[in-house]
Amino acid sequence: MARFYITTPIYYTNGEPHLGHAYTTILADAIARAHRLLGDDVFFLTGTDEHGQKIERSAQKAGVETRAYVDRLSGQFRALFDALNISNDDFIRTSEPRHYRAAEAIWRLVRDRGDLYKGSYEGWYCTVDEIFVPETQLVDGRHCPVCRNVVEWLSEESYFFRLSKYEQPLLDHYRTHPDFVSPEIRRNEVVSFIEQGLKDLSVSRTSFRWGIPVPDDPAHVIYVWFDALTNYITAVGFGDPGAQGETRFRALWPADAHLIGKEIVRQHAVYWPAFLMSAGLPLPKRIVTHGFWLMKGAKMSKSVGNVVQPHGYMDTFGVDALRYFVLREMTVGNDASFNDRAFVGRYNADLANDLGNLVSRVVTMIHRYANGRVPSPGTDISGDVATENAVFQDQVRRAIETTCEAARRFDSATTLSSAWQAVSSTNRFLVAREPWRLAKQPQHRALLETTLYHAADAVRVIASLVEPAMPDTATRIRRMLGVDAESWVDLRPGTLAAGQTLGPVEPLFPRVEIDVTEQDQDQSTDAAQPAVSGAQSSAPAVRTDEPRITIDDFMKVDLRVAKVLDAERVPKSKKLLRLRVDVGEQERMLVAGIAEAYEPDTLVGRHVVIVFNLQPATLMGLESNGMVLAATQADGKPELLTFASPPQPGTRIK
Ligand code: MSP
Repeated sequence: MARFYITTPIYYTNGEPHLGHAYTTILADAIARAHRLLGDDVFFLTGTDEHGQKIERSAQKAGVETRAYVDRLSGQFRALFDALNISNDDFIRTSEPRHYRAAEAIWRLVRDRGDLYKGSYEGWYCTVDEIFVPETQLVDGRHCPVCRNVVEWLSEESYFFRLSKYEQPLLDHYRTHPDFVSPEIRRNEVVSFIEQGLKDLSVSRTSFRWGIPVPDDPAHVIYVWFDALTNYITAVGFGDPGAQGETRFRALWPADAHLIGKEIVRQHAVYWPAFLMSAGLPLPKRIVTHGFWLMKGAKMSKSVGNVVQPHGYMDTFGVDALRYFVLREMTVGNDASFNDRAFVGRYNADLANDLGNLVSRVVTMIHRYANGRVPSPGTDISGDVATENAVFQDQVRRAIETTCEAARRFDSATTLSSAWQAVSSTNRFLVAREPWRLAKQPQHRALLETTLYHAADAVRVIASLVEPAMPDTATRIRRMLGVDAESWVDLRPGTLAAGQTLGPVEPLFPRVEIDVTEQDQDQSTDAAQPAVSGAQSSAPAVRTDEPRITIDDFMKVDLRVAKVLDAERVPKSKKLLRLRVDVGEQERMLVAGIAEAYEPDTLVGRHVVIVFNLQPATLMGLESNGMVLAATQADGKPELLTFASPPQPGTRIK
């Protein structure tokens, strides 16, 4: 069994987690789950980065002791990841003793290699923001670009790491490992950064205490990035005193992938490999970088104040819907905008309509037409039907292949769009076969059964394909089908056991109605202004369509075929028409809001659907006795319900 070690960055504990943090973790989780399904022995690491001046200051600001502060925030990340159904195998905290041991151990290796020396860290310092500002970024040569205060020249004793020594070894590594950093744009950025020449790096501080003391020189604490990057080896046993640590480390290191956001590529793709080279340790195999979630055109971040809290979306739409959205909407490597319109659009179209309806339709039909047991695929099927079945199975097989390939490439959007190929093929297969019609014709029993079998079999495959993104949904689909989880290794169409008893239908994704007009402003570039319903908020105001009504409730609505006898505009109204209709045993006068889409003359003689038993209403002074049914088109215009071959006026519709 191949082993697969994947990491997320460890998260700063200087503020509450938001959707940007949730994203890196969800993506890593989907990759980890896909690799488990592909048969790998996966180790998936995430955790929290708890040292440094920034965190010390945040704790001071909050008026809390630093350790208590990081305990609380680390707990929040852990709780969020539990809620998001993240399947990490370990959660590391840099404040743990095992990590101190590992950071001290790598420091010693680097020091003993002769790659650390004491010098003085100097530069323009802003005492308000407590940062060194590169000379090129000074405003008017004297002022901090963040707060505009006058900067001062400061120098602090520091250990330096001989990064310059690793310039050529790093370039060699990039040449011999073209896939070391992806996507290519980031790789090129890193290579050109190295080619411009690497300066030695300050790797300790004396101006604050919240960090890991430098071995044998406790006046210094280890620079936070040197400390933090080491977490990736701490968690797999590096620095563990026992022999067990050594064995684990050899089995799991180097990591197969460090998954990171694009702003921390330099630390991962230049500093980290140089530290490892110096320590004589193998380099990670790949560094995969993703882009940013944007809100109102700016990177979602606490300091801009445009963050989205994942909890509200999970509560309203379900955890899997949030996971699906971020994995489907963002192409790994590119930026993407988070907005409610896109979220609800995907939810209703992809999840409620395509997937949810398919599953409930198939399971319901098997309950209704096959006594709740998976019918047999049919042994004596031949001719066109057999060919169509084979074509359909081929489509499902292709969807499996492309889903697996995309998952291996960490391409979450294509993984899901490929799985959706199977969803669409199954929906098309059902529409072509019309099992609901076959069920009414006993002579087509065999065709009905083979159709239901193949549809249910495809739904089984779909459950597997969506599992990395939506583990809970996969479980629920399988519960309905009465089947067990299965690996991708031998996933193929046609293996569903006939005779299998189905579980009850569970609605997966109830449709939602939502007013998202406020978030249309999301396209604006005014980054300072938080978007109305997304920023600092949990979720948009949403109404789900539950609870369902019973058939008795539905039967209370008396829908009838009506024939239009004459039609005229309602004076002074742009929208209303007055209709006289024939409803079989009687005539009715109705007022309908369809004048913008229909000329009165064109309606005469048409058959429409009306609600016959609606209480009369008065519109523009005219009594309306019933309501004409119409759908609203994308352009806002009404579209009347109509018949291909109209029944007699007055016929009841049910
Ligand atoms: N502590 C460092 C990482 C040390 S790893 C040895 C750090 N932490 S972080 O909390 O600021 O960011 C962690 C991850 O969250 C990064 O991958 C970052 O890209 C991701 N995101 C934070 N905001 C984000 C968005 N708005 N969009 C997408 N992901 C972003 O950096």
